[in-house]
Amino acid sequence: MRPIEQRAAQAYREQFGEEPVLIASAPGRINLIGEHTDYNEGFVLPCAVSRRVAVAIGLLRVGADLSRPAPIHQPGETWLYSTDFQELRALTEQKVGSWADYPSGVVWALKEQGHAIPAFQGAFAGDVPLGSGLSSSAAIEAATALALAAYFHLDISRKDLAVLCRRAENAFVGVNSGIMDQYASLLCREGMALLIDCRSLEAQQVPLDLASAGLTLLVCDTRVSRKLGDTGYNARRKVAEQAASTLGVKQLRDAKVSDLDRLAGEELRRARHVVTENERVLQAVEALRRQDFTRFGELMYESHRSMRDDYEISTPELDTFVELAARAGALGARLTGAGFGGSAIALMKQADVEGLKSTALRHFERRGFKLPVFHVFSPAAGAGVVLNAKKAE
Ligand code: GLA
Repeated sequence: MRPIEQRAAQAYREQFGEEPVLIASAPGRINLIGEHTDYNEGFVLPCAVSRRVAVAIGLLRVGADLSRPAPIHQPGETWLYSTDFQELRALTEQKVGSWADYPSGVVWALKEQGHAIPAFQGAFAGDVPLGSGLSSSAAIEAATALALAAYFHLDISRKDLAVLCRRAENAFVGVNSGIMDQYASLLCREGMALLIDCRSLEAQQVPLDLASAGLTLLVCDTRVSRKLGDTGYNARRKVAEQAASTLGVKQLRDAKVSDLDRLAGEELRRARHVVTENERVLQAVEALRRQDFTRFGELMYESHRSMRDDYEISTPELDTFVELAARAGALGARLTGAGFGGSAIALMKQADVEGLKSTALRHFERRGFKLPVFHVFSPAAGAGVVLNAKKAE
């Protein structure tokens, strides 16, 4: 068991006075290329990272030792505990603006689909940095959904669980995100990137063996926290839809570069990003299949320029990191995730990482930016159930 899963188990014992019955966990993600394409039914290429959210669950049995934590709860009620927020909360039937909205949203979405979800107890622990564009919210949704499906023997495929988690995020939490993050968290595999066709929801594993090429992914969390609801995310979606309707296509996925002549102004800039980004994802996958990391990196830089100039979702901090990465000889660099803050990634030689980190720290300090936090990731495993004592019962 990973340390984060052990922490969830320990929290469960402390809060609920008994052993958890099932433990599952799900990762955050970085997106290698293909940004703001998912809700346009295009292509994305994320991989999972080694930071996860774990949940330990069980049923509160009559007679459990509740002397220590003293929450006022009875068998038949669902209670959720977060080690990170050190907070016990009841399952909610509508959004209350806390971390518990995510698991509550998943339970709501399961019930909406007609699944009976009896009361349970859950303890969560996570190490996906919050608000950094690495999808901590998808990780908690995916961990909850996988855990409950296994615990209550629900016959739901991982793809359908991802769709269900997005439904929770859109309709319960109220963030109008696409499918990428939940899909990546549930379907990614270690050592692989995941090409997702966000129209058909077909996914292909694409080997991403960076280590044998002496390469790694450096993530720079600019600590400019973005909350999707507070940013231009929904505004970008709206203009993308308008552009599709001006072009008379269902989604921008269906538009070609030659169609862009028929657009102007903001619709043109936003659509140009989406149309060219979809092409870049497919070219990037081809490059990966040839192990051509140089070409892959060029596409990352192009993607960043397109997001900076056409989609206008970058920040001075993200641009600074990307420029410094280029100067340090990184093969590619770009912002990852929704933008408006959060993180950027650089594909680079392992040997150059420390140099770029210290240069970036110096520049950020000089420019009066918050000091960034760095992570080095290689493509990690997707969501999984790590303990299921129910099976043995
Ligand atoms: C956020 C959303 C995703 C996707 C990205 C941008 O992470 O949750 O669905 O739209 O932004 O690519």
